[in-house]
Amino acid sequence: MELVSDPKVKQTALSAIGNTPLVKLNKVTKELDANVFMKLEYFNPTGSYKDRMALAMIEEAEKEGYLKEGDTVLEYTGGSTGSSLAFVCAVKGYKLKIVTSDAFSDEKIDTMRAFGAELTIIPSPGGKTTPDTIPNMMKLAEKMSKEPHTYWTNQFHNKHMLKGYNGLGKEILDQLNAQVDAFVASFGTAGCSMGVAEVLKARNKNTAIVLIEPEESPIVSKGIAGTHDIEGIGVGFVPPLLNRELYDEIQTVSTEEAIDMTRKLARKEGIFTGTSSGANVVASLRVARKLGAGKNLVTVAVDSGLKYLSTEVYH
Ligand SMILES: Cc1ncc(COP(=O)(O)O)c(C=O)c1O
Repeated sequence: MELVSDPKVKQTALSAIGNTPLVKLNKVTKELDANVFMKLEYFNPTGSYKDRMALAMIEEAEKEGYLKEGDTVLEYTGGSTGSSLAFVCAVKGYKLKIVTSDAFSDEKIDTMRAFGAELTIIPSPGGKTTPDTIPNMMKLAEKMSKEPHTYWTNQFHNKHMLKGYNGLGKEILDQLNAQVDAFVASFGTAGCSMGVAEVLKARNKNTAIVLIEPEESPIVSKGIAGTHDIEGIGVGFVPPLLNRELYDEIQTVSTEEAIDMTRKLARKEGIFTGTSSGANVVASLRVARKLGAGKNLVTVAVDSGLKYLSTEVYH
């Protein structure tokens, strides 16, 4: 038997991206009539939904001829996108340069290194995300992008990633027989929320899309950029991919509420994830309360709790 032609065998680790489980929350939703489901994106190979966008950004660039064998890929990242890009580049044989900051967890930095990425780490005061953290990383990446044979994925401006997240939206529709009344997601680049919203709104324009930003840094809803500790969201500026026609409402969640819910998810639901996912559930419970009996709300467990073991959340 030729094992590699067996349809049950994946040809590379890249084929392990996607088709993640959708799980109903039962304990934190006590007293709610609506159903709240969480898409467990930590089942992706690097433990994060960013694997979907990294693969889309690289493969679309290959198709369009921006990225060729022997080139170096470059990105500035809090570490989730970087880990996913490092994974995809390892399988495809591209060199990867990453600009990041000590505002993000050691686990993410170590993961990027484990996949062979070359890192430049910019210090951020107190190890938190300040309004300058991402813009400083961006400026350095822009400078480095001028080096020859370099392809800068430039995630905040990269529309290819929406295609990666369209797949997540299609899986949700399939898993709930297209009965989705609301989708709730926090945003950084807004790639996930917009990519999923494109698919859900095209199927049913009445599906409510509710976005979340940190209460300490409500740049889109209140025009205020501040310091917070929900990794991956609240980047201090309005992300260019955010499309006003694709969402209905923005809610805010504090770092404290997000951390508290992240711990509850692990202890009560067995869902071991990070703070942005905790924020997703805090807002989901508020939205679900208004939806009523039998309605379906979907939110996302963005990534694995293993990425946050050294942080305040699990100490
Ligand atoms: C942990 C985490 N949560 C949420 C997000 C937000 O996702 P998106 O950039 O698709 O809006 C990110 C993005 O970096 C992230 O790393």
